[in-house]
Amino acid sequence: MIITIDGPAAAGKGTLAASLAKRYRLTYFDTGMVYRAVGLQMLLENCPLEDKISAENFAKQLTFQRMMELSKNPNFRSLEGSHAASAVAAIPPVRAALLKMQQDFSKKPVFADGTPADGAIYDGRDTGTVICPDADIKFFITATPEVRAMRRFKEYEQKGQASSFEEVLEQTIARDKNDFARESSQPAKDAVIIDTSDFSIEQVFEKVCEIIDQRQKTLEK
Ligand code: DC
Repeated sequence: MIITIDGPAAAGKGTLAASLAKRYRLTYFDTGMVYRAVGLQMLLENCPLEDKISAENFAKQLTFQRMMELSKNPNFRSLEGSHAASAVAAIPPVRAALLKMQQDFSKKPVFADGTPADGAIYDGRDTGTVICPDADIKFFITATPEVRAMRRFKEYEQKGQASSFEEVLEQTIARDKNDFARESSQPAKDAVIIDTSDFSIEQVFEKVCEIIDQRQKTLEK
């Protein structure tokens, strides 16, 4: 079973996807990691973010293993790293170079230790539209920019990374502009859209599980 969870930054996709992966014993693919890896590589090599050729080359060379190594760098999820990821994700040849790696995973999903899985939860922006258009169930998780910025701000605070709420809100709005300029980032026509602004993580999780359980019964028939 392949489930896709798309939506804007800090809408709660990651937490939801990880919990769903546990509940349904599926593996979890956080597709933002591929763009974060390329963005971080640009920062490490001191390449300006407008240097599309270098970004494309890094994307072409990226392996799963290298991505996991880069994910240990503290800048992988920092404000600077997020900005770099958003910039490289807006370069079409970078997206094209990273497509196969993401699609291949759905054909042979495995857990982190390499054991085969019965399916995967994809978390991203275009997983229901481009990466896995034939997914069994698609969700689009969203929330207002203010709610999302507050969630991200608290995350940075917990990690001791300096930022102000205003700065995070500004960046959230800028990233939305960058990420949602792409047609592929709009909800898939067959996606279930959930606005999480007024709900807790637990409430969203329960609602999504209900939908998956119902859908599974239909798929089994
Ligand atoms: O989900 P995230 O914040 O880790 O994603 C990092 C960046 O990558 C974000 O700016 C959007 C982009 N992204 C994308 O364009 N397509 C995806 N499937 C996943 C992420």
